[in-house]
Amino acid sequence: MTASGTFGYGEEFAPYIDLNRLGAIVVKGISRRPRRGNPPPRIMETPAGMLNAVGLENVGVDVFIEQKLPFLRTFDVAVIVNIFGESVEEYAEVARILDGVDGVHGVEVNISCPNVVRGGIDFGIDPEATRAVTSAVRAVTTLPLIVKLTPNVTDITKIALAAQEGGADALSLINTLKGMAVDIETRKPRLRNITGGLSGPAIRPIALRMVWEVVRAVTVPVIGGGGIMTAADALEFLIAGARAVQVGTAGFIDPRAAIGVIGGIEAYLVKHGIPDINDLIGSLEV
Ligand SMILES: Cc1cc2nc3c(=O)[nH]c(=O)nc-3n(C[C@H](O)[C@H](O)[C@H](O)COP(=O)(O)O)c2cc1C
Repeated sequence: MTASGTFGYGEEFAPYIDLNRLGAIVVKGISRRPRRGNPPPRIMETPAGMLNAVGLENVGVDVFIEQKLPFLRTFDVAVIVNIFGESVEEYAEVARILDGVDGVHGVEVNISCPNVVRGGIDFGIDPEATRAVTSAVRAVTTLPLIVKLTPNVTDITKIALAAQEGGADALSLINTLKGMAVDIETRKPRLRNITGGLSGPAIRPIALRMVWEVVRAVTVPVIGGGGIMTAADALEFLIAGARAVQVGTAGFIDPRAAIGVIGGIEAYLVKHGIPDINDLIGSLEV
């Protein structure tokens, strides 16, 4: 799967890869109304990844359905719509609007963005709020419901269990880790927002540890991600128990990264004589 916010609404990548080869496309986070996001500079490279404070810029759910979805519908690939809101009601409203819309195969509820003042992470750091958002969305949609968790908590399993209790069909993790960088000449933060979300290879060991913890705590499937650049990285998550993986930042370096991961997993299964990927999932030996 592509990770939300790193693959737009699919259009930019279509010239480079066959979108039909992907397991699913998770589109950029969508809210009820369009949002401009944060002012620049809002992206910077770090030694092993990137810091971003895009701030959930998006076209809004109505424009998404009218102008972005028709393109995605021309492909034979699952489309997961990543959604967020500033209130429980807004989350539910966006989910309700998407329910039953042709070409939408699931929703991924982002309760984990560190880059907005209201919404996002406010919900994902508190089990009660996580349960409330999840059950409000569950009540208005029959679509598969994925809840995306933040790593910016002390014990991610408590949030994972709350999302499961609220009615999530699956969990995805992790979103970005809150970070910052300073320009030592100007003594100013490098991002206008001061802090941003760290993604890429730097966060992979943390993501892997959290996926492993959550897999053992819940019964719903877990989708793993965070710094996956290659098939070998993805295989680590699968062996730790993830049932699927998301590729994000890698796509900024190589638009074919997600396709490369798929091909590499296939080659690994053949090489090791594993006929069914389910034989590999959760096979970690400790
Ligand atoms: C520029 C950028 C924008 C993002 N926007 C979203 C978003 O709208 N919704 C969301 O749930 N996650 C968003 N994310 C988080 C990614 O989906 C992913 O969880 C995170 O980057 C970790 O994976 P990676 O290291 O493979 O990129 C964004 C990440 C980046 C780098």
